Amino acid sequence: MSRIPAAQACADVCRVIREKVGDFSPEIGVVLGSGLGNFASRIEVVAQLAYADIPHFQPCHVEGHSGNLILGRIGKRRIICQQGRYHYYEGHDPQDIVLPIRVMSQMGAKSLLVSNAAGGINEGFEAGDVMLIRDHINFMGMNPLRGINADVFGARFPDMTFAYNRELGELMLNVARENSIFMREGVYLAVSGPSYETPAEINMFRTLGADAVGMSTVPEVIAANHAGMRVVGLSCIANAAAGMDNVVLQHEDVNEVVGKASKQFEELVEQWIQTVP
Ligand code: HPA
Repeated sequence: MSRIPAAQACADVCRVIREKVGDFSPEIGVVLGSGLGNFASRIEVVAQLAYADIPHFQPCHVEGHSGNLILGRIGKRRIICQQGRYHYYEGHDPQDIVLPIRVMSQMGAKSLLVSNAAGGINEGFEAGDVMLIRDHINFMGMNPLRGINADVFGARFPDMTFAYNRELGELMLNVARENSIFMREGVYLAVSGPSYETPAEINMFRTLGADAVGMSTVPEVIAANHAGMRVVGLSCIANAAAGMDNVVLQHEDVNEVVGKASKQFEELVEQWIQTVP
């Protein structure tokens, strides 16, 4: 199937947004993961666009995910927020998954906060913990930059040594400390899903150095690094990964735990946004 080049799709989207927001230029992008969409209620909205009304944006299918792109303010900071993300397991093309990130970048955002719900692989983690993502392992079997490189976004072979910005990550740890929130740190491993992992896979992932596992985030982080954005990632640990608790994993339980932890998450993100240099 032939498709419209990513650069052109991105330009089309930016044009539609510009018609709504004029010269409002976001500084910080935010991707709200499963069960964390309520953060959007803290935004002083300048414009809210449903994915259905944005050219080249796909419908968002997952339960617990709204599909809105929101531009507005948190305090004095200007943000662009994806309420509801695209998952590879939904069948989306990798380029469609990262289109919102490229739009954020082209609209002016230099920093990006990504969030997700994840299974805890590290035996010290507990459901409800928040983990700062130090690094990731791409186990999805795809890379969103595959194909002809769109030079307007970035280089053919982007460096991923500092995929998660240390300075902005330290800021997040400081915000957590100031609020007496205990924050974990670790490596996020992404699988394609939608089936949860087997216990044998979880044991393998632990051996590989993973602390948490999920089905998202890595494509967006790759695209953001390609575009030169500074990235911070947070995982909400929703459950002990498969085989660790001798229970059956269910999406509803994941959403429930994340829902309970979401207030803490919202506080962290709101305060972090104020401090981003
Ligand atoms: N595995 C993969 N993705 C997840 C999990 C998990 O255990 N929990 C929440 N998202």
